[in-house]
Amino acid sequence: MNANGQNAPSETVETLIRKAMEMRKRSYCPYSEFSVGAALLTEGGRVYGGCNVENAAYSVGICAERTAFVKALSEGERSFTAIAVVGGKEPEAGQYSFPCGECRQFMREFCDPDTFEIIAARSEKDYKRYTLGELLPESFGPGNLV
Ligand code: THU
Repeated sequence: MNANGQNAPSETVETLIRKAMEMRKRSYCPYSEFSVGAALLTEGGRVYGGCNVENAAYSVGICAERTAFVKALSEGERSFTAIAVVGGKEPEAGQYSFPCGECRQFMREFCDPDTFEIIAARSEKDYKRYTLGELLPESFGPGNLV
């Protein structure tokens, strides 16, 4: 959803899903064999991709969603509209892959829970969309510390 309360048009959603699928191919996941790709849309219309990158010291690994956010944030981006996520054990997306709790909280730092959209996709045409607030209700964010 954008700042005017409108959902991203379906062509935008499909473009994001395609990018997330491309990113998923770059996943480094020798331990879980669960590959994830993400595509993050900024308010300015740029798209940043990410994949999960695992590590022999398991907890050091990073999720696809946070990879995309860190790439964008480190380039100076601060305003975000939507993220598409694809993932699973099979090469073809057999399931909807949702952001883990840590990723949802990470998004909460930078995204409006009422408008930022999370798109969990199995294919370009088969996806579910939620606001961040729907997936992380009654959340804790920067405003709580003011
Ligand atoms: N993973 C993600 O990339 N995103 C999520 O939100 C859920 C989990 C990754 C982490 C790990 O590399 C693999 O999926 C299995 O947990």
